[in-house]
Amino acid sequence: MKTYELALIPGDGIGGDVTDAAMAVVEAAASRHGFAVSSRRFDWSCAHYLETGAMMPEDGIETLRGFDAILLGAVGWPETVPDSVSLHGLLLPIRKAFDQYANIRPHRLLPGVEGPLKVGEFDILCIRENTEGEYSGAGGRVHLGTANEVAVETAIFTRTGVERILRFAFEQARTRRGHVTSVTKSNAQKHSMVFWDEMTRLVAQDYPDVTVAPMHIDAMAARMVMAPESLDVVVASNLFGDILTDLGAAIQGGLGFAASANICPDRSGPSMFEPVHGSAPDIAGRGIANPIAAIWSAAMMLDHLGEAAAAAAILAATEAATASGIGTRPGRNSTEEITTAILAALEDRA
Ligand code: IPM
Ligand code: MN
Repeated sequence: MKTYELALIPGDGIGGDVTDAAMAVVEAAASRHGFAVSSRRFDWSCAHYLETGAMMPEDGIETLRGFDAILLGAVGWPETVPDSVSLHGLLLPIRKAFDQYANIRPHRLLPGVEGPLKVGEFDILCIRENTEGEYSGAGGRVHLGTANEVAVETAIFTRTGVERILRFAFEQARTRRGHVTSVTKSNAQKHSMVFWDEMTRLVAQDYPDVTVAPMHIDAMAARMVMAPESLDVVVASNLFGDILTDLGAAIQGGLGFAASANICPDRSGPSMFEPVHGSAPDIAGRGIANPIAAIWSAAMMLDHLGEAAAAAAILAATEAATASGIGTRPGRNSTEEITTAILAALEDRA
């Protein structure tokens, strides 16, 4: 039987609860669909940082390299470790080290979930560049603490980086409704964003079957609220994609429903799957975190591993649960109730 080796990084706060929920669902799906998962848990987190001085061991990346995929819960506990330290010690280096350049985030309303908007259905797939741009980490600070202090953070856009994320977005559009909206701010940022627009036109030539429209980030923010149903695939730089996908999460009913996949498309390293939400210190330890974002992310993981039927079954079971009203409003059901309902729906389908 095919066995997938999974690295689990529950991380901080509600990360542990939602990772446990996702793994219970993955294991149930595996036994019904003829494959097995073997998982190893890593306690890399802010607690680990306080104990050892690092978010993960020095050979952490090399350890992860041997796995088929990584499932991550949440990273960050700002009360004890600054976010700029915890994120740069775990999540962000993993995305970069394994060249997980495509961050995929689906935004749509699950049945029974009422979003904040007065619109009907929408189905957006946001493709966020995940390794460079505004997150390149190039820069520095001088004259610290003086009136002459300077902070520089340079966004880096490479031809390789921009071209590959655009191609990835066009490929995704081919499997959907065939439309790409490429988000920039080329009216103000005349170097990097004009370059991105040019690359969009160039790549589009190879996809005559896909329609494409450029859009500025500010107008895009308004459009996601006013007319989300008009969007199919949305592709954006690292920071723009980060911001738009929190907006996407909001219109789909909240961060509890926002799933994501950090994909290394050439499979030279493992891909990583994580809910968009963070560690949620305000509700941590109360057993009320919505596990749906993590479960949906785990379904994306199985799809990436080639287990499309199991992934589809998990999504269908999740939809069956929300259609019956389970997990549709914050605090309505416990993490356990939602997980149990999804497991039961999975069983019903078998
Ligand atoms: C996300 C998160 C991260 C990001 C943070 C925690 C560094 O907001 O995955 O969207 O900005 O990428
Ligand atoms: Mn974010």
